Amino acid sequence: MSTIFDHMILLSNGVQMPQFGLGTYKMTDPEETLRAVEKAISLGYRAIDTASIYQNEREVGEAIRNSGVPREELFITSKVWNDEQGYDETLRAFERSLTALDMNYLDLYLTHWPVSASYVDTYRAIERLYDEKLIRATGVSNHHEHHLQELFAIANIRPMVNQVELHPLLTQQPLREFCHEHQIAVTSWSPLARGKLLQDPTLSAIASQHDKTVAQVIVRWHIQHDLIVIPKSVTIERIKENGEVSDFALSSSEMAMIDALNRDERTGTDPDTY
Ligand SMILES: NC(=O)c1ccc[n+]([C@@H]2O[C@H](COP(=O)([O-])OP(=O)(O)OC[C@H]3O[C@@H](n4cnc5c(N)ncnc54)[C@H](OP(=O)(O)O)[C@@H]3O)[C@@H](O)[C@H]2O)c1
Repeated sequence: MSTIFDHMILLSNGVQMPQFGLGTYKMTDPEETLRAVEKAISLGYRAIDTASIYQNEREVGEAIRNSGVPREELFITSKVWNDEQGYDETLRAFERSLTALDMNYLDLYLTHWPVSASYVDTYRAIERLYDEKLIRATGVSNHHEHHLQELFAIANIRPMVNQVELHPLLTQQPLREFCHEHQIAVTSWSPLARGKLLQDPTLSAIASQHDKTVAQVIVRWHIQHDLIVIPKSVTIERIKENGEVSDFALSSSEMAMIDALNRDERTGTDPDTY
């Protein structure tokens, strides 16, 4: 039987990116991080999302080596933090991430936030990393349509991924449509709205219909919308639970009911006022 770990999203350059992976924001305890990432990989997770600001790249790299899974079977994403941005600065930040992870390439490297004075130069540096085959795909995070338009004006290679806050309270429909039109895959960050939705009555009713948890229903909603989804957990049972979403499907009316929960409500910051 196919599992969620086999689902791939085809990026605009032909690279296959796993549709489901592990987020690692707030994994700050080294032992806990090692245990969570190792467990996730042993369960079948093949994509790990980290960032220099999470300060866990060292443990993520170590867990990957401990897992025994060949590097080329994994998809590793990292990001350049706001105070590391600019052309030369980004090249140096990438070197630091690579050293911390102890790897010789990354699958995807993202501008973490569009710092207004430097995000264009930051993306130019990411293009160079791609040209030099140090990353397999280019991308950005927290970019609105106007930031992407700005990049299109200078880019030789358009970003292949945009990672943004996205969950049933913030469905980002216009941005998703824009990205789809321009062949940019969308990754949902805080896909579970950091737990805010776990008691929601609509989601609870749908979950009990399918004998699933609310978290599984939300993950399934992202998957059926062709979004890349990276829930974070350090709890072994939840890491397992979040990946068990291949044995049920939401009907179109259930998808519409979840879509209707949208309130354009962020759990994090608006990129325009960051
Ligand atoms: N690009 C960006 O700017 C940006 C910003 C934020 C996040 N991200 C990325 O997106 C990832 C996911 O976002 P996130 O960590 O903010 O939020 P999230 O995945 O929506 O929620 C994580 C929280 O939900 C809990 N949780 C996970 N699975 C659960 C389950 N099955 N049942 C109940 N609770 C559950 C976790 O607790 P435990 O860990 O205690 O189990 C944790 O407190 C991050 O880790 C990071 O990799 C990117």
